Amino acid sequence: MLNKIESLLQEIKSLKADSADAAEQLRIKYLSKKGRVSLLFEEFKTVPADQKKAVGMALNQLKKSTQDVIQQLKDTFNRDEGANGQIDYTLPGTSRPIGSRHPLAVVRNEIVDIFARLGFTVSEGPEVEDDWHVFSALNFPPEHPARDMQDTFFVNKDPDVLLRTHTSSVQVRVMETQQPPIRSIFPGRVFRNEAISARAHCMFHQVEGLYVDEKVSFADLKQTLLYFAKEFFGEQSEIRLRPSYFPFTEPSAEMDVSCSICGGKGCNVCKYTGWLEILGCGMVDPNVLDSCGIDSKKYSGFAFGMGIERIAMLKYQIKDIRLFFENDVRFLEQFKSAL
Ligand code: DAH
Repeated sequence: MLNKIESLLQEIKSLKADSADAAEQLRIKYLSKKGRVSLLFEEFKTVPADQKKAVGMALNQLKKSTQDVIQQLKDTFNRDEGANGQIDYTLPGTSRPIGSRHPLAVVRNEIVDIFARLGFTVSEGPEVEDDWHVFSALNFPPEHPARDMQDTFFVNKDPDVLLRTHTSSVQVRVMETQQPPIRSIFPGRVFRNEAISARAHCMFHQVEGLYVDEKVSFADLKQTLLYFAKEFFGEQSEIRLRPSYFPFTEPSAEMDVSCSICGGKGCNVCKYTGWLEILGCGMVDPNVLDSCGIDSKKYSGFAFGMGIERIAMLKYQIKDIRLFFENDVRFLEQFKSAL
């Protein structure tokens, strides 16, 4: 009996088929009720008790091998060929799960896209910076608290090697290497030594904007930002500018946009004020232009900076900034976008 099984196994291993039909015929020949493998199972009843264990195992192995061989033969035909042996282009393809963009990338791309329509180019700068580009050239006085260990991450305790605390540093790099007209935005990652909470993180993203040319005025700044607000938050959006202070702009302002959730009537997102603060801005301080090699008597400019996380949180009503960095797929896969 064991010999019979062995020789049938050899026979089956060398089986060939030239079509799916032929493979099906082989299945009938070996595996159907009256097939050759099945008949051996019939014969098994006559095997003496002391051989039953060995023969039974061999039989089961034979059946499994036969099924595998025949399935393999069938697969070669089923994979991509129709009944006439041609490739069947109508068969559905193998689908693969499609990822989605990170919400911060979605928002950044949308911001870049809006300013690109106004003729702004995109530039980038290094995340590890020096004091000059992050602070000194931007008119930060020596005793300014942002220069303190408390707020800034220094690399190797060297006061001149630090992680940039804002993307305003890229303004300096661009003005040092280009002459006006300059019309550019700088998206990027920034770092601050802050305790992590639902509202703050030690690493986040900003988009900085800079426009320098002859006769650039505050009206240009206001109109540019109004255009941005309407494109991003909707045509009905309004903006308001509140006086503020930044060392590198004079005058400086903070901009609020009318709350797009309640339309300005007041809700818990805008804390019942009808307004959401979204960015800082101002006219580039003449000291900054001069520090970067641009003639402040001839040129003027405006600058602005916004936090991408903050804008994304407003847009999608996300209540906790930490969600952006936990990479939980259930959170991330909700953001499908064309951009
Ligand atoms: N750099 C500022 C910050 O990180 C944001 C900012 C404010 C940028 C005013 C500007 C500006 O360009 O004009 O808080």
